[in-house]
Amino acid sequence: MERFSSLTPVFIAIICVLIGIILKSNRKSSKKGKSETKNKSESRPWVDDDLRDSTDLHVEEEDADGDWQGLDENIAHVSFSAERYSEDEMIKRSKEFYELLNKRRSVRFISNEPVPREVINNVIKAAGTSPSGAHTEPWTFVVVQDPEVKHRIREIIEEEEEINYKKRMGDRWVNDLKRLRTNWIKVYLDTAPYLILIFKQVYGMLPNGQKKTHYYNEISVSIACGLLLAALQVR
Ligand SMILES: Cc1cc2nc3c(=O)[nH]c(=O)nc-3n(C[C@H](O)[C@H](O)[C@H](O)COP(=O)(O)O)c2cc1C
Repeated sequence: MERFSSLTPVFIAIICVLIGIILKSNRKSSKKGKSETKNKSESRPWVDDDLRDSTDLHVEEEDADGDWQGLDENIAHVSFSAERYSEDEMIKRSKEFYELLNKRRSVRFISNEPVPREVINNVIKAAGTSPSGAHTEPWTFVVVQDPEVKHRIREIIEEEEEINYKKRMGDRWVNDLKRLRTNWIKVYLDTAPYLILIFKQVYGMLPNGQKKTHYYNEISVSIACGLLLAALQVR
């Protein structure tokens, strides 16, 4: 009995330490759980951190996590058919396409020769075939032909570009551009028969007036721009 009572304080100390360890590990795992939930509600995997801008953040605030957007699940899929070619034909076609695209150049002097409007429409239709996040097609193409509107656009762009070159871009960037001999003066915005302005829609509108999330909107619009450039080569 006496031996038992002399060990009692040791047992109590061991039990206290064990309780302490258990409590501490419980607190840690509940903290981890909370931060995981927080991260989950903040995370928007379709917005690349590098592409984040104020418009994306705006959508985040408005977009209640877990709200279904009520999109029609029974929508008919577009039919798919693919031409088949022999190996020789595939090689020939891919080479020809590469050679056509390889003729594309970024130019800063543009001809004022008229272009049929139908060509512009077809080029935009080609761009509109682009894939997009969750098939949201988050783009708007605006064609401008009116000389006064083109000139106003030129003024706005030149004003912004001058600030870019002088303040926003920094010495290294401006220096890297020297070999391209670019600056903020863009005469070609007056000369070109058409300007195609491309806007990304950071969200759409549902019939009930709620905002519709446009996943990967910046990337989707960038892909559409690539297709537009390729289509312009075919003209
Ligand atoms: C995202 C992006 C931004 C660009 N910005 C400009 C620009 O501000 N001004 C300009 O004159 N060219 C700009 N360019 C064109 C590049 O300078 C050009 O693509 C590059 O020099 C290669 O020439 P190439 O397009 O003839 O192959 C840009 C191209 C890309 C893809």
